[in-house]
Amino acid sequence: MTEKQIAVFSGNTLFDKIARAVCRAGTLPGKELFEAWEVARRVRRKYRGGRVVDLACGHGLLAHIMLLLDDSSAEALAVDLDFNENTHRLSRIIVDRWPRLENRIHYLTSRVEDLDLTPDDIAVSVHACGRLTDTVIETAVSAGARLAVLPCCHDTKVGDLGGLDGWVDGPLAIDVTRAARLRAKGYCVITRTIPEEITPKNRLLMAHPELIVDTE
Ligand SMILES: C[S@@+](CC[C@H](N)C(=O)[O-])C[C@H]1O[C@@H](n2cnc3c(N)ncnc32)[C@H](O)[C@@H]1O
Repeated sequence: MTEKQIAVFSGNTLFDKIARAVCRAGTLPGKELFEAWEVARRVRRKYRGGRVVDLACGHGLLAHIMLLLDDSSAEALAVDLDFNENTHRLSRIIVDRWPRLENRIHYLTSRVEDLDLTPDDIAVSVHACGRLTDTVIETAVSAGARLAVLPCCHDTKVGDLGGLDGWVDGPLAIDVTRAARLRAKGYCVITRTIPEEITPKNRLLMAHPELIVDTE
């Protein structure tokens, strides 16, 4: 998205305002904006507050939108193996537009598997490829944290299909098995999809420890 597309998002909605900031940054394909937005709004309908931890965050836009949608989260941690100048440019432009985000979004260069989360965290991850989604889930569960993942790049040779591939396609079998494993670990599971036109990898899996009351 580039400055030339700013006029496409001329409305007064939060989405349009974020889209204009993303256009101004000129660092992202539109798909990533729509994915992050559609995931964040569904997650925020269910999970408020907590430290947002955007794992395998890439551009880190999801962390920003999560705070914009719910200011009761004091901070966000965006984690990836490395970051480039584009990541920081996008963040700078968003924070300039919403100064209340200043010093609340932190970047950490780390592998997901090396992180320790806390029960107050909400682990979010969009398109952590293949088994990396499982690592995100395991990292959240080992801390008793809430989680929301939009899996992609399912590898049916190494993923756990739970014996379900006789009934449903391999990638769906992997996601259903992920949900079942979360239930077995005492998590409540919430499933949603984001529009397929944005991405065919559109299954959103959210889960929280059973003790947290589901308010909707
Ligand atoms: C497909 S991209 C998704 C990026 C972003 N979440 C998005 O929605 O566009 C996958 C990201 O995972 C990161 N990654 C791969 N292995 C990782 C690991 N072990 N720990 C942390 N990040 C990792 C990559 O650097 C890359 O940014």
